Amino acid sequence: MITEQSVMELLETMKDPFLHKTFKETEGIEDVSVKTDKNHVSVKLAIAKTNTAEQMQLQQELVGKIKQLGAATVGLRFTQLPDEVIEKYQPAEEKDTSILGKNSKTNFLAIASGKGGVGKSTVTVNIAVALARLGKKVGIIDADIYGFSVPDMMGVEERPKLNGNKIIPVERFGVKVMSMGFFVEDNSPVIWRGPRLGKMLTSFFKEVEWGELDFLLLDLPPGTGDVALDVHNMIPSSKELIVTTPHPTAAFVAARAGQMAINTDHEILGILENMAYFQSQVTGEKEYVFGKGGGDKLAETLETKVIGRLSLQQPYQEKDVFAPSIYQEDHPNGKEYIEVAKQIIKQF
Ligand SMILES: Nc1ncnc2c1ncn2[C@@H]1O[C@H](COP(=O)(O)OP(=O)(O)OP(=O)(O)O)[C@@H](O)[C@H]1O
Ligand SMILES: [Mg+2]
Repeated sequence: MITEQSVMELLETMKDPFLHKTFKETEGIEDVSVKTDKNHVSVKLAIAKTNTAEQMQLQQELVGKIKQLGAATVGLRFTQLPDEVIEKYQPAEEKDTSILGKNSKTNFLAIASGKGGVGKSTVTVNIAVALARLGKKVGIIDADIYGFSVPDMMGVEERPKLNGNKIIPVERFGVKVMSMGFFVEDNSPVIWRGPRLGKMLTSFFKEVEWGELDFLLLDLPPGTGDVALDVHNMIPSSKELIVTTPHPTAAFVAARAGQMAINTDHEILGILENMAYFQSQVTGEKEYVFGKGGGDKLAETLETKVIGRLSLQQPYQEKDVFAPSIYQEDHPNGKEYIEVAKQIIKQF
């Protein structure tokens, strides 16, 4: 007659299909019981990954073997091993070294807005450059797949190279950049939708050789569409910076993007007011051409704070360095971006 002891002995010699260690070693045997009257055996096993093809295979194998021991029927339940156990026994080469992996030390910051044209991309590239100026290792994912603009703004003219099947991001001003713009010929429009779009974004994380990064910034498309949601789901640890102009309507619309961050449990790091004022170079006087108070109002609504205000001004014109949107270190906006970057570093 079948006993709990004999089932136990069998299980102890079998291996976890992912960790290739015996269930004895992983302490994955959670429960074995035998109903002698019905000759029924029930087993609860913890394995590294549930609901997989490997689990199905293990299931079949186990049922067969337990029946050989004399059981008439077998009930199997699977649960997942605790993370520490998986971590401990995970084969070295299968350890997740990707930027999204558990061992990643990268801080993620998504730059969002309610509406278009408020300066998200400008803000993204300048914060990235400011963080790099402060000695951080920084990358940018231009997650605006249709409306990519990061390469242009940073004056990137090269294309990424391949290393085996990994893409090497292009580096500019000490910032690694990945954008759909690199894969589109002649500025033709991108007409992808839905799953393909999401897949592209996933490749930007997984198929790009980012190396070690302190910060990865994501320039989101305007509004609260698919990509923003994908990003929210893909990187639960990402914090979010909301860009708005000082106009009350812009701030009102931006609140929606903020609300989405809150709904998906993403922490809002702060508000950045772009085009906050115009400062006359002649008199030094500030004029609030797009109104005033939008950023503060938004900060109040989203229970966060305004971490910077950028003036309405272009970078200095330079002949030798071509980058239309990067403010120089001694530019008033360049200085403000350094202050913003310092606050960002503090908040991670
Ligand atoms: N502080 C500023 N002063 C002057 N021009 C600015 C400023 N910020 C952004 N711009 C300009 O405003 C335009 C829109 O900026 P940007 O493309 O960064 O906005 P966006 O929010 O990313 O837009 P989209 O929603 O289309 O992605 C650009 O031409 C940019 O150069
Ligand atoms: Mg943009």
